[in-house]
Amino acid sequence: MFYRPGLDPHGLAHNPFKALVAPRPIGWISSLDAEDRVNLAPYSFFNAIADAPPMIMYSSNGRKSGLDEGKDTVANIRATGEFVANIVSFALRDAMNASSGHYPAGEDEFGRAGLTPAPSRVVAPPRVAEAPAALECRAWKVIDLPGAANVMVIGEVVGVHISDAVLANGRVDVTRYQPLARLGYRDYAAVREVFALSRPGER
Ligand SMILES: Cc1cc2nc3c(=O)[nH]c(=O)nc-3n(C[C@H](O)[C@H](O)[C@H](O)COP(=O)(O)O)c2cc1C
Repeated sequence: MFYRPGLDPHGLAHNPFKALVAPRPIGWISSLDAEDRVNLAPYSFFNAIADAPPMIMYSSNGRKSGLDEGKDTVANIRATGEFVANIVSFALRDAMNASSGHYPAGEDEFGRAGLTPAPSRVVAPPRVAEAPAALECRAWKVIDLPGAANVMVIGEVVGVHISDAVLANGRVDVTRYQPLARLGYRDYAAVREVFALSRPGER
């Protein structure tokens, strides 16, 4: 099959696009508003985009359904320039999902999801204490994308937290926390199997 987005109907029961670009890692973004109220929400349009310096991006799409408000995370980052991208383990899947509800601005999703805010070192927003890792970020650019309320935030990672429990022999061992990834529809995957490939010319 073939279709041109926005021009042709895809003819399927659900839009297949997000199922095709999968698995997507989940950035579980904590931020503060201008009055220091904490916010937490998952974003699967999320990835690492450079490593020296380390940079990440996430993007916010649309408005909160049922509420005439844009999403809090991007508003907070526009106001403060800081956020933390927490990494989601399989064990945290329900807490992550609970934090995705469309609550009014100022609602504390840490409390709603039964999570513990832990202080960050470089930026003001707290991180998720239960997360296997957390990336403290300063916003580098906030870019309006085509479409209604599509905004991409690019951040520089200025602090990296890694739980000792997921380190083994000096390496991050993903099998110890099984990173959660978003697929299409209501589907998720957890990384449980790992294999290595050497690049051409490498031994
Ligand atoms: C696994 C998962 C991934 C999500 N990814 C995105 C995303 O990439 N972009 C987006 O705008 N919303 C995404 N959402 C929905 C937001 O988490 C939701 O709209 C949330 O209420 C936004 O919170 P905020 O207003 O506090 O920022 C996702 C939800 C879940 C459960």
